[in-house]
Amino acid sequence: MRLVRPSIEWKNEHEDYMKEWDESRITPSSFNVAGHEDYETYLEALQIRESGDGKWVPSTNYFLVGYNDRILAMVDIRHDLTDYLHNVGGHIGYGVRPAERRKGYATWILAEALKKCGELGIDRVLVTCNEDNIGSAKTIEKNGGIEDKSFIEEDGTVVRRFWIES
Ligand SMILES: CC(C)(COP(=O)(O)OP(=O)(O)OC[C@H]1O[C@@H](n2cnc3c(N)ncnc32)[C@H](O)[C@@H]1OP(=O)(O)O)[C@@H](O)C(=O)NCCC(=O)NCCS
Repeated sequence: MRLVRPSIEWKNEHEDYMKEWDESRITPSSFNVAGHEDYETYLEALQIRESGDGKWVPSTNYFLVGYNDRILAMVDIRHDLTDYLHNVGGHIGYGVRPAERRKGYATWILAEALKKCGELGIDRVLVTCNEDNIGSAKTIEKNGGIEDKSFIEEDGTVVRRFWIES
């Protein structure tokens, strides 16, 4: 398994991955190609987003790719925290392909993302999940997450917040 950066050569695999999510909102949102004219336009928008332009903080996105070049999971590493990221989003967002869940890939991609955070100089990494997301909470705890105060969104959603030393 390896981490690779989104690029044109992953177009077909990325589109195949997205189909598996059906109606559910793709996580992290940086990997949602829908709404872009074509894949090239999506990649341009991602580049702008990663550079920290406009409302975005600088970020780096990776696919987790298996031995047969199949995309298994995706991760978005946010280099800074805005108020929203401090309360809700955290430094790292990840998602695993529905057919590949419960095989340890989220645990693996979060561990790799934490190494990348270390390289970026982010020593204390904030990772969050909604209270009802048991799989994500376990993933964070398996990577050493220490729980901080939860945040309650306006609609009542409880966001659990964890810190991890990178
Ligand atoms: C949450 C998610 C990332 C977990 O991915 P995964 O690859 O299945 O997780 P792992 O296989 O690494 O499992 C980690 C731990 O969580 C447990 N787990 C995973 N999914 C679970 C679930 N739905 N219910 C209960 N436990 C679950 C695993 O059993 C494992 O614990 P164990 O080692 O004690 O058995 C995945 O379900 C997903 O992509 N969900 C949609 C997007 C999302 O919620 N992203 C996270 C945003 S905070």
